[in-house]
Formats: sequence, C-alpha cells, structure tokens
Amino acid sequence: MREFSESYLERTREGMWADSRAALEPLALDARDRILDVGCGTGELSRVLAAESPGEVIGCDADPDLLSAAAEHVPVVAGDALRLPFSDDAVDLVVCQALLINLPDPAAAVAEFARVSTDLVAAVEPDNAAVEIDSSVDAEGDLERRARRAYLDGVNTDVALGADARTAFETAGLEVLATRRYDHVRTVEPPYSEGELTAARRKATGDGLADDRETMLAGDLSEGEYDALRGSWREMGRDVIEQMRDREYRREEVVPFHVTVGRISES
Ligand SMILES: C[S@@+](CC[C@H](N)C(=O)[O-])C[C@H]1O[C@@H](n2cnc3c(N)ncnc32)[C@H](O)[C@@H]1O
Repeated sequence: MREFSESYLERTREGMWADSRAALEPLALDARDRILDVGCGTGELSRVLAAESPGEVIGCDADPDLLSAAAEHVPVVAGDALRLPFSDDAVDLVVCQALLINLPDPAAAVAEFARVSTDLVAAVEPDNAAVEIDSSVDAEGDLERRARRAYLDGVNTDVALGADARTAFETAGLEVLATRRYDHVRTVEPPYSEGELTAARRKATGDGLADDRETMLAGDLSEGEYDALRGSWREMGRDVIEQMRDREYRREEVVPFHVTVGRISES
C-alpha cells in the first residue's frame, strides 16, 4: 500500500472545497443519515462532509497513524477498502477521495462500497496526468511535467483515473447518476507557510524526487536520465528558495478532480 504522510495530505488538501462545493451537489449531503469516507487519511474530506451534512460521518483508513489524525474530527474505524468492517446496508453514502487511484482494482473497491451503502456511492478522483503548473521559476513547470510523466510510466495503479472512475462504477453494477469536475487550485505566494518552505527545501535537496525514484525507474526512465533529472530538479529548487528569500516566488498548480456519483441498482 502506498504511504502518505500527515503533512503531505494536509498541505496538498489545504483550501480544497473552500471556494466551491458545487461539484459535491449530486451527493445530496443535506439528505444523508450516515456517511462513510473510505481512505479518509487525515480526514480532510470527512470534515467537509461533516460541515455539509446533518448525518453522521465516519472515517475509515488502513493507515493507523493517519486515522488518529482524522479521529480529531470524526469517529473513525480502521479497515481495508476491499473488506470494509461494516455490515451490508450500514450507511446511505460511501465516498472516497484520491483512494481509487491507489488501488490496483478500483472496481472491486466500488463493489465493496455498494455492499455497504443503501443508496449512493461517490468517488472524488484526480487526473494526475492533467495537472498544470505556472511558476515564477521558469524551469519548474517543464521539470514537473517530465517527473510526472516518468512517475505515470512507472506506477502500477491508474493515478490519472479521474473521470474514468465511471468505468469502475459501471463494472461494479452501479448506475452513474452524475459526474462533475472540480479544479483544486493551489497557490504559493508570500508570506510562505512552513509547509511551503519545507516543500521548497525538499526540491533543493532532491529528497522529494528521490521518494519516487523506484517508481520512475520502473517505467521508461534510465538511471542516468533520473540522475540528470534530479540534478536539474535540485538546481530549480535552489532558484525557488532564492526567489522565496526575495519574496518573489509565485506558483499556481491546478489539479483536476472528477466527482463520480452512482446509485445502488434496485435488483
Ligand atoms: C491519497 S490519500 C487520500 C486521503 C484522503 N482521502 C484525502 O483526500 O485527503 C489515500 C488514502 O487511502 C488510504 N488507503 C490506501 N489503500 C487503502 C486500502 N486498501 N484500504 C483503506 N485505505 C487505503 C491511504 O492510507 C491514504 O490515507
């Protein structure tokens, strides 16, 4: 199972859903009694669900450390998305965010969600192949594109699933009611947060890229190409830090998320 740190999830979800929750409308949150957020991580989505719904929201994740952070916001239960520790028809909505992209068989997870829900199943999944970067450091956008392409080539799950989650729903026998797109825009500008400064330092040391080295080498990238990419990456990171010192660094990242909502069929 791919691991995520608490700080990574908090940083990458910061501000998500704050500007618009229109894409969540098909989940009919105001009419829900009991919602299960599977792969809840630190509970970033669980909190949004709890704010929008009068019903109870329960978080579930396989990682006990992340789950203890989520427990500060909602009740939690440890469990595997493919064998949920809930009886049939236990809730009226099962939802996940950025979980299916990490699973080798997304349709099997959606089928398990359908077992536990009486009414709706929803997935909020990014298309990581369509991320766009605009940075005041010229090289950053191109280097991130190259690193992302190498990662996508080597990773063994569909991290660009996005709108294609519909296929997993249909394979699991669900009727797809609606699909919506939500663009999560992440802006870095002065004053920089502690998390943004840490992320910049990880660029300059190459540590961030090194975390994905094995995945990248599992694709088409050779060791020599990886080393060259890491060299340019570190140089770019040093430019980011220099611009930050002068309070000139600005970056905008747009991550497209796709919301897919399905209904449990009557039969
Ligand atoms: C990218 S994170 C998303 C976390 C959260 N939904 C969010 O959007 O902030 C993926 C989460 O899925 C969890 N996860 C991965 N495989 C799982 C599985 N088989 N069963 C339950 N949780 C799983 C991970 O521990 C992690 O918390």
